[in-house]
Amino acid sequence: LNKAPLFEALDDQATKALRAHVSEVRLARGQSLFHEGDTGDRLYVVLEGKIKLTRMAPDGRENLLSVLGPGEMFGELSLFDPRPRTAGAIAVTECRLAGLGHDDLRPFLTAHPEVGVALLQALSERLRKTNEVMADLVFTDVPGRVAKALLDLAERFGQPGDSGLHVHHDLTQEELAQLVGASRETVNKALADFAARGWLRIEARAVVILDIERLRKR
Ligand code: CMP
Repeated sequence: LNKAPLFEALDDQATKALRAHVSEVRLARGQSLFHEGDTGDRLYVVLEGKIKLTRMAPDGRENLLSVLGPGEMFGELSLFDPRPRTAGAIAVTECRLAGLGHDDLRPFLTAHPEVGVALLQALSERLRKTNEVMADLVFTDVPGRVAKALLDLAERFGQPGDSGLHVHHDLTQEELAQLVGASRETVNKALADFAARGWLRIEARAVVILDIERLRKR
């Protein structure tokens, strides 16, 4: 738990005190943790696996806000702003999460203001990223957005291998399209074009990035 940026500043004693309030949650692939609109009373830290945060349009289309991996946290908005969950959370892979009740976390934040600062840092980073995604939706074409989404996934989930940077994002083509905010066909076309140029290789629920500089330029 103290490998997560949110709690890494805590000493052993404080981590022990925190652990007393933590309950572990295990999810199978595809299992839902909560839905958009639910009442929220917990913050979660991903310990193992990947989880997606998703919003549903009235016509049933889905927008994937983010895919989170180990060390990342979610479910904090309803801590400060007690309103329904702003997104649903679904396991992309088998997951192990640490759940912390908002009622336990509030007094903990008062006793350990460094955790509050880390929480503000995480929120600022998220706002910065959201602003960028919004600007990209207006100013950047779909291939550019696909390249950016892959680079973001590579930064968090990439592992250097013999033939390139292996990015096991664990997303289906449909989910990748929902993350980029475009149709599956357009996103697939962009991926096929990148592959034809030799910038990456497409694998099942993964890509291997072969030329990261070209992808960055795109
Ligand atoms: P909460 O509203 O309690 O439950 C859904 C969670 O999704 C929310 O808290 C945030 O932790 C997370 N979330 C909401 N919007 C975004 C976003 N744009 N990017 C990443 N995570 C988000």
